[in-house]
Amino acid sequence: MRLTIIGTGYVGLVTGACFSEMGSRVTCVDIDQKKIDNLKKGVLPIYEPGLESIVLDNSKEGTLAFTTSLEEAAKGCSVFVIAVGTPPGEDGSADLQYVLQVARQIGRVINGYTVVVDKSTVPVGTADKVKAAIREELDLRGTNASFDVVSNPEFLKEGAAVRDFLKPDRIIIGTDSDKAEKLMRRLYAPFSRNHDKILFMNVRDAEMTKYAANSMLATKISFMNEIASLCEQLGVDVENVRKGIGSDSRIGYSFIYPGCGYGGSCFPKDVKALIQTGKDIGFEPTLLASVEQRNNLQKEVLGLKVKKRFGQDLSDKTICLWGLAFKPGTDDMREASSMVLMEALIKAGARILAYDPVAMDQAEKEMPAEWEASVTLVQDQYQALVNADACILVTEWKTFRQPDFKKMKTLMRSAVIFDGRNQYDPEEVAEAGFEYHGIGREI
Ligand SMILES: NC(=O)c1ccc[n+]([C@@H]2O[C@H](COP(=O)([O-])OP(=O)(O)OC[C@H]3O[C@@H](n4cnc5c(N)ncnc54)[C@H](O)[C@@H]3O)[C@@H](O)[C@H]2O)c1
Repeated sequence: MRLTIIGTGYVGLVTGACFSEMGSRVTCVDIDQKKIDNLKKGVLPIYEPGLESIVLDNSKEGTLAFTTSLEEAAKGCSVFVIAVGTPPGEDGSADLQYVLQVARQIGRVINGYTVVVDKSTVPVGTADKVKAAIREELDLRGTNASFDVVSNPEFLKEGAAVRDFLKPDRIIIGTDSDKAEKLMRRLYAPFSRNHDKILFMNVRDAEMTKYAANSMLATKISFMNEIASLCEQLGVDVENVRKGIGSDSRIGYSFIYPGCGYGGSCFPKDVKALIQTGKDIGFEPTLLASVEQRNNLQKEVLGLKVKKRFGQDLSDKTICLWGLAFKPGTDDMREASSMVLMEALIKAGARILAYDPVAMDQAEKEMPAEWEASVTLVQDQYQALVNADACILVTEWKTFRQPDFKKMKTLMRSAVIFDGRNQYDPEEVAEAGFEYHGIGREI
């Protein structure tokens, strides 16, 4: 099958690469000339385990190509996948300008029957807007090409995106067209061999499913963070509580780790967008508003703990940050808790030494220029501890999981650990001579 993917970011690139890996001929389109030039040279814009080899192999085979010209990509192609960003607008709703811009561009190039697949995360009712935008362009051209708009939300996780795409839990397809359903079934057949993973539903149901899934996961995280704060006040070990409730099969262990807040390009914006969807129809989504509020507070917790320990003025303190990315396995810094923490520490006068295994280039781009005097990005996790008054674990990369505490102690000025992801055993840390502060556990 010939596919055109429009938008070559996390979702578009992974989608394009994985479809080409399964035998489709894919052209990825992006308006970012530099990104496309680099991809043509085999240089990927993101870090994602397993992605590079798939991109390089399929580019070499000629089954995966990159261009900035939608017109060029469209030749002989009858399936277009929209994978551009849907960032939050001023009121928190999903900004659809890129999606609708692409819809109009598609309307300008299609001729025969076409399926337009919406893979971007978009609010209920967007497919109708996409349809109208395409129809308008076709009318302007005086062309009567038939087309269907399908909703096919993406559930990949950054850091495991290739694995998730190749072995999905489920594939959600929203369509009211038998013709489009047949085509989508064929397109996804290689990913659904073992058992049927495709769930067909109507378009609006599919659009809502994506928001409901992300909001549910964000809710679990915020719920546990709230429980952690209660535990801390009550002298209860939240980690025992986590294990105690996780063992209930109705609750499960996933997404109930206390931490320093969720970030990334999806949860924060999707929760915001769903809140706004509710408001737009006169409904007050009180639970979702609390989920967001709890998360904003949670991102401040580490900074508050540091100030509680060392005082409001940190101008004579050097703080080491382990991890900058919003989660392990990615270099994505969007809405990362590390940014909120760094801002609080810098405002209090602290000097920061930070290390992340892959996100330092990205972090450098994201950090405001005025932080340069306060933050040093260090190329080695132990070097980042030299003369530090505290080490804060922000992102739970594997390399931080079992550190050499003895070595840490010899390097640091004072032996204090703030464990932003409750990764360490407080007893082990205390035995190594460290003072331990976790999330929901002050020991
Ligand atoms: N990142 C994730 O983990 C994830 C997971 C599931 C769903 N999603 C959703 O998928 C969508 C894309 O997310 P992302 O993280 O891949 O975004 P991204 O910002 O990484 O990439 C979007 C790309 O689209 C390009 N673009 C914008 N306008 C264009 C146009 N007119 N023509 C061609 N290219 C254009 C941009 O240059 C950019 O490269 C969003 O709606 C997001 O919510 C993301």
